[in-house]
Amino acid sequence: MLIKIFITILFAKIIQCQINLSRFSPLVENLVKNYGKQTVEQSKYHQIYDFVIVGSGPGGCVLANRLTENPKIKVLMIEAGTVETIAQGVPLIAPLSVESRYNWGYLAEKQEYSCRGLRDGQCAYPRGKALGGSSVINGMVYTRGSKGDFDHWKQLGIENWDYETQVLPAFKRSERANLKYFHKPEFHNISGSLSVTNSPYETPFAKIFINAMKSLNYSEIDLNSDDSIGVGRLQSNTLRGVRHSAFEAFIRPVLKRKKFTHHDQHTCDKNSH
Ligand SMILES: *[C@@H]1O[C@H](CO)[C@@H](O)[C@H](O)[C@H]1NC(C)=O
Ligand SMILES: *[C@@H]1O[C@H](CO)[C@@H](O)[C@H](O)[C@H]1NC(C)=O
Ligand SMILES: *[C@@H]1O[C@H](CO)[C@@H](O)[C@H](O)[C@H]1NC(C)=O
Repeated sequence: MLIKIFITILFAKIIQCQINLSRFSPLVENLVKNYGKQTVEQSKYHQIYDFVIVGSGPGGCVLANRLTENPKIKVLMIEAGTVETIAQGVPLIAPLSVESRYNWGYLAEKQEYSCRGLRDGQCAYPRGKALGGSSVINGMVYTRGSKGDFDHWKQLGIENWDYETQVLPAFKRSERANLKYFHKPEFHNISGSLSVTNSPYETPFAKIFINAMKSLNYSEIDLNSDDSIGVGRLQSNTLRGVRHSAFEAFIRPVLKRKKFTHHDQHTCDKNSH
């Protein structure tokens, strides 16, 4: 019981960023080094490429996946970080990845009205440095933008952001949903690449909270549908309880494509060639 309380407090503190996690780094690094180190085979280089993708964040990963669907196109993807390890996959210790070598470690500008409890008023601004970018260190929450926002942008005259005909089909094309709790099937796809699931474990409190909200006349909703107000369970980018990063979803399955090269631990500047 005491250990449970201790862990809860520790995580609450970490989430609030009130303790300097550097002290925990050796532990994290050790975990990262010794447990199930994953590697990806470095692929062969070509002399000339049709496309060079700089950065393998979720955007770069999807782009590389789609471009290499055409077997004639040669694609090179350059990434400063490396492949994640099993430690990044465990949801319970996800907050610790923020203090690992998979984070660029940026600090936000000094804030006038927020981050006041932090040194120099600066909040941490975690950004992933890994194959899969920030999808390797984030909280794995899968939340699409709300329909109302996209519709509003369209009203303002911004093209290509129509929810029904452009945005929703793009969300659906990527998704492999396997949801055990309430959801609207017409907003999901079960055969894409990126796994979307509910947490396999929940405390009794979740059910009590949802029932309490329902007794206040909020309905149970699918947070990734056209409903934005109500109560519902989170959907997350996990597969069988493990993080499903953009790298695992979009790159690992296509590593064997002959015209695709990824080059890790390499940064670019305007003089690179
Ligand atoms: C955290 O601690 C380390 C070593 O003790 C120190 O070098 C670093 O500046 C500290 N970071 C912050 C944000 O205080
Ligand atoms: C589901 O995903 C697959 C693979 O990306 C795609 O071919 C299919 O069109 C998608 N279905 C829907 C309804 O979007
Ligand atoms: C919920 O809706 C029912 C039926 O419309 C109504 O009788 C009840 O007072 C509502 N409860 C709350 C908390 O608004």
